[in-house]
Amino acid sequence: MENDKFGLAVIGSGTIGRVRAELAREHPCLGWLGVCDIDTGVMNRLAADTRADYASSDFRELVARPEVDAVIVATDENWHVDPILASVEHGHRLFVEKPLATDPVKSAEVLRAIEDNDIDAVVGYTQRFRRRFITARQRIREGAIGEVTTVVTRAFMNRMVPLATLARTDQRKTLTPMVVSGTHSLDVCLWLLEGLEGKEPVEVYARAGDHVLGEIGTKDNTLAIFTMADGSLWSMSISWALPVTWPGAVYGLEIGVVGSTGVLDIEDTHRDVVIASETPQGAGYQPEGFEASAPRHVDFVGSYPPGDYAEGGLWGPMREETGTWLNRLITGATTQHATASDGHRNLLITMAMDLSARRGEPVKLPPDPTQLLAD
Ligand SMILES: NC(=O)c1ccc[n+]([C@@H]2O[C@H](COP(=O)([O-])OP(=O)(O)OC[C@H]3O[C@@H](n4cnc5c(N)ncnc54)[C@H](O)[C@@H]3O)[C@@H](O)[C@H]2O)c1
Repeated sequence: MENDKFGLAVIGSGTIGRVRAELAREHPCLGWLGVCDIDTGVMNRLAADTRADYASSDFRELVARPEVDAVIVATDENWHVDPILASVEHGHRLFVEKPLATDPVKSAEVLRAIEDNDIDAVVGYTQRFRRRFITARQRIREGAIGEVTTVVTRAFMNRMVPLATLARTDQRKTLTPMVVSGTHSLDVCLWLLEGLEGKEPVEVYARAGDHVLGEIGTKDNTLAIFTMADGSLWSMSISWALPVTWPGAVYGLEIGVVGSTGVLDIEDTHRDVVIASETPQGAGYQPEGFEASAPRHVDFVGSYPPGDYAEGGLWGPMREETGTWLNRLITGATTQHATASDGHRNLLITMAMDLSARRGEPVKLPPDPTQLLAD
């Protein structure tokens, strides 16, 4: 890194790669920006909009450039592993969108490569940058509700997300509600409990159904009960099959944390700002080429987890998350980003939920990646 300026490569120029690259372009310490996508149309548009210094459809060529200090991997879920390993080879600092991999054995390999090479790597669990979760975590750590005995988590998602996500690949086996999206709620809950004695999950029992989304190769829902090391209980349920006309464009979450002397109840369904209009409202999450099948006239404004576009940019936790990471590149500060190890743990737990649902029996945690793959 020269003169406190960093050179950044963004691999994947789709929805999220674009957000990150646009935010990086605003950073005063950006010295050089390179973008990449196998879709050259998408890549060239982003390169022009962010005044990128370099663009290549070959991520290996990009990460080998001498100007690069740090890399953002924002390819779609199944295609994170090779860009991560190529970046590790060059010793670059890393920001990886979740999940680390969709194959548990590859995820373990990636984690080992990152740790063996002492790479500073973080994973994009954007919700850790929400004021409400940061404060809630602080209160729990300060003992405001005593000893946590019960956690109840409910995530509701508009089915536009699985429809758009699964449309971009035919490798859908591991693209389940928990691996792709529930992982955000799971990470927030585990982060709320981080460092508290006995709050590591040791067993999960789950069920999943596929009445609606089975035909596109995924589940509608996953409902699970975790037992923690000290016997406390956590229920984690998600449905990502809500109809496209549901006012929540993307994500709605409720988390209740019950303690021995208090309770913390987080309402994050975004019903605090509602718009109803004769004009259809936007899709919220709209990757290139995806069209929603029906219009939405009522919208819970603010349900798109990364934030909202206004005033020429994205405002919300993804701005905070990206900016904090870019600052970390310069200052070396410790931040609340998920580590690569957190990312790997989250993948294994979400896959263990899917395994339990398939087998119809409890699964011990943490599961063995090889066993998960074999199953
Ligand atoms: N943190 C969050 O809140 C959040 C929100 C949405 C998505 N995501 C994650 O971000 C990632 C990207 O999702 P998206 O919505 O931007 O998807 P997207 O489909 O809009 O973009 C992905 C891009 O990667 C490109 N790509 C695929 N393989 C490539 C390769 N080998 N080399 C170069 N480019 C390649 C594709 O052509 C596409 O343009 C996913 O992992 C997703 O789970 C995170």
